[in-house]
Amino acid sequence: MSRLLQTGLNAGKDPLIKVIDGEGVYFVLADGRRLIDGSNTGGPLGHKHPVMVEAMKKAASNPVINEGWFWAEREAAAEDLIDIAFGEEKSWVGAVRFFLSGSEANDLALTFCQALTGRRELATRERAYHGMAGLARQMTVQPHWHGGLALQGGGSKPVPSQASVRILPAPVNAKYGGVSDNRPLAERMAGTEEILSSVAATIIDYTQGGIYYDSGYQDYVANAARKAGSLWIADEVVTGLGRSGRWFAFQGGETRPDIVTLGKCLAGGSAPAGAVVMSKDVVDQMKDKSWQTYSTFRAHPSAVSAIRAYLSVMADGQIIRRVKELETRMQQRLVEIARKHPSVARVDGFGLHWTIELHGPDWRHWYADTIEAPIASRVAAQAIEAGAVIGTSGEQTSLFLAPSFIISDDELDTLISALDHGLELADAEFERGAA
Ligand SMILES: Cc1ncc(COP(=O)(O)O)c(C=O)c1O
Repeated sequence: MSRLLQTGLNAGKDPLIKVIDGEGVYFVLADGRRLIDGSNTGGPLGHKHPVMVEAMKKAASNPVINEGWFWAEREAAAEDLIDIAFGEEKSWVGAVRFFLSGSEANDLALTFCQALTGRRELATRERAYHGMAGLARQMTVQPHWHGGLALQGGGSKPVPSQASVRILPAPVNAKYGGVSDNRPLAERMAGTEEILSSVAATIIDYTQGGIYYDSGYQDYVANAARKAGSLWIADEVVTGLGRSGRWFAFQGGETRPDIVTLGKCLAGGSAPAGAVVMSKDVVDQMKDKSWQTYSTFRAHPSAVSAIRAYLSVMADGQIIRRVKELETRMQQRLVEIARKHPSVARVDGFGLHWTIELHGPDWRHWYADTIEAPIASRVAAQAIEAGAVIGTSGEQTSLFLAPSFIISDDELDTLISALDHGLELADAEFERGAA
């Protein structure tokens, strides 16, 4: 019996697999099996990438130095991030502060916006996930990730609210399957500017809840936020630094955020790290102010080494071009699979982040308050038989694929075949339900 307090992406009591090691795109299990690690948003270069391993060995000789002291290597990491990742955004990018995680970056970016605007309310979009700490948790509006206690016999003990959250309609795109609302964007979003007029920050991400990037949507919300006096935070914790098939998802639109938050890929998976990147305009507003937040282990020497190593691997843009290439293969294969399986309701995604949503109960009513594994977790369990680990993000009917960027064409095909195998179980249940 484990004495770790458990939390899990796949609902149910027992772990689906017991991982003891990882190599390249594979997890190695206690029983010797090697499975493709198919949804690891924090592992962009897979396991044991040689450049990352070397950097982490060298990192052991760094000084033990906290955020409060000047350290040349930390300065260099900030310069690398700005020069390499934001190289095409020179006229936009202002300054960066490193954090411990995506959640911390979002929490503190949101409080920063409250302090700067003097407003308290915050806005996000339907079905968003922004993390599990402080205001990031508050802005996570998927019902099962409430951050409180889910009671296994039904019901929950939620965390009392810290701020009032305004929820905008989400984009409604799909590469396969139905969209819930065909009205023009301006009609669907009517009233946005008024809602945002009392809001300190509007935070938008580009993957969560299986809802993906839409440039028209981004530009609409960004323009409304600007007119309403709300700052706009692009939550690029998942999509930033390569996964979207470009450096940042926001680059697909015409608008540019006030703040970008980063995490996951930032340290190549070898250390925990997050960042808040501010625009030049916002930094200008900070000229006569200092942002009074601090943490002992932020921009820790191990994270700094990992960030610099990751950026050095990504610098020539080859891996990002490869992600873009794989996007086409992924879309083609997933749409083929969806057509074969009546249990699939919708497929959407971009770059190397894709969601397969099944028919079944509505996500709005799922509080993770049962012990039975929901259908998505059972599909993921069956996919393991065919050689790959697929994630579910904790929703009952959603599976997501987010492999590392170094995956080969053949390995990607194996991952999708494993999904195909898992979906046979969902089809059988779907057909029993329909009969
Ligand atoms: C869009 C988004 N923002 C923020 C976070 C929080 O990042 P972390 O779990 O590293 O704190 C996540 C995590 O999944 C995320 O998907």
